[in-house]
Amino acid sequence: MSRKVKIGIIGVGTIGSVHADAYAKVADADVVALCDINPETLKAKSARHGVTLTYENYHDLLANPEIEAVSICVPNDLHAPIAIDALKAGKHVLLEKPMCLNADLGRQIVAARDASGKLLQMGMVRRQCAEADVIRPLIAEGKLGKIYQINIKQIRRRGIPGLGGWFTTKARSGGGGVIDIAVHSLDLALYLTGLWEPTAVSAKTYSKFGSPIKDYHYVSMWAGPPKMDGVFDVDDYATGFIRFGSEATLTFQVAWACNSAPEDSIEIIGDKGGVKIGGSARGITLLTEYDGRPADIVLDYDSQSDGFKKETEKFVKAVQGEGAVPATGEEGVVLMRILDAIYKSSETNREVAV
Ligand SMILES: NC(=O)c1ccc[n+]([C@@H]2O[C@H](COP(=O)([O-])OP(=O)(O)OC[C@H]3O[C@@H](n4cnc5c(N)ncnc54)[C@H](O)[C@@H]3O)[C@@H](O)[C@H]2O)c1
Repeated sequence: MSRKVKIGIIGVGTIGSVHADAYAKVADADVVALCDINPETLKAKSARHGVTLTYENYHDLLANPEIEAVSICVPNDLHAPIAIDALKAGKHVLLEKPMCLNADLGRQIVAARDASGKLLQMGMVRRQCAEADVIRPLIAEGKLGKIYQINIKQIRRRGIPGLGGWFTTKARSGGGGVIDIAVHSLDLALYLTGLWEPTAVSAKTYSKFGSPIKDYHYVSMWAGPPKMDGVFDVDDYATGFIRFGSEATLTFQVAWACNSAPEDSIEIIGDKGGVKIGGSARGITLLTEYDGRPADIVLDYDSQSDGFKKETEKFVKAVQGEGAVPATGEEGVVLMRILDAIYKSSETNREVAV
């Protein structure tokens, strides 16, 4: 049996607990410390996860030589400073999405990784879905032919998280639905297709539902309830078009809130076949041709997948020297370049280079 990897979790709000629960299912992971600036959260999560070593200041956790690796699960504006400090302190880093606030900061994180010789894994959990394990090899083997179009639809009808808090305050989050949820679909689409060289973006973002906060009508809220005296200065709807040279294109519609039916789907179209994940499609159907006719092939696969367990397990294995991280800092920077271009294109009302 391999040695256990001693892990600290920095930020034990919603997703920090998800990481703790995931590591608990990984045989070689040992979460030895938790950190949060909120003492009440820290006390509650210490009890919930049975981890007695706690820190209110992340610098103190990083100074503990026992801790080999950290999960960083804090608000977006703290991703870059804490990741860079953790790498400088000699810790391997699993960094939640989005990588940070912009591509320049992303490059600084990658530079810190290179200087440290430690590992940096992006928390792109959707790559760990069962469908990705089926579709990525199909595409790599050329079963879909040349991929030339991707369509992303990620629509929540009323799904603004933590209205009035850090999620909806641009200085802390970097943006709204685009940076918070489109990052997942864009990452998965590029991971499946290998289209890691975007060249141009034309996009428009809107902000229609989050402000004034008192007028937002919702059924449930992630990270709620709303802070009535808080800030909402981010996007809640965006649409756009991304070019990958002259070979391929991607359209997206993403909403934290809009008057449209909820959907979360990615469609990938090649000249030999097409697939769609999510939406009204159940499972995976390959739209192709057979014996000179259009034909649909329903692919059988085990749809059960514990994404966070797989993500943390791969991180622990990589720390043990048994495999590469499943989502790299370089890929994180490509995504940040796209997100920067989406916001810039919207502000300037024109297509911009990525
Ligand atoms: N992978 C996913 O599907 C997924 C889902 C939700 C959130 N996230 C990401 O995880 C991150 C956290 O989101 P969340 O929903 O858990 O937010 P949250 O607000 O529930 O938790 C953040 C925690 O960080 C703590 N914190 C703030 N500053 C800190 C500091 N300096 N040191 C230590 N702790 C600090 C807060 O007190 C809070 O407990 C975000 O970047 C978000 O985008 C990812």
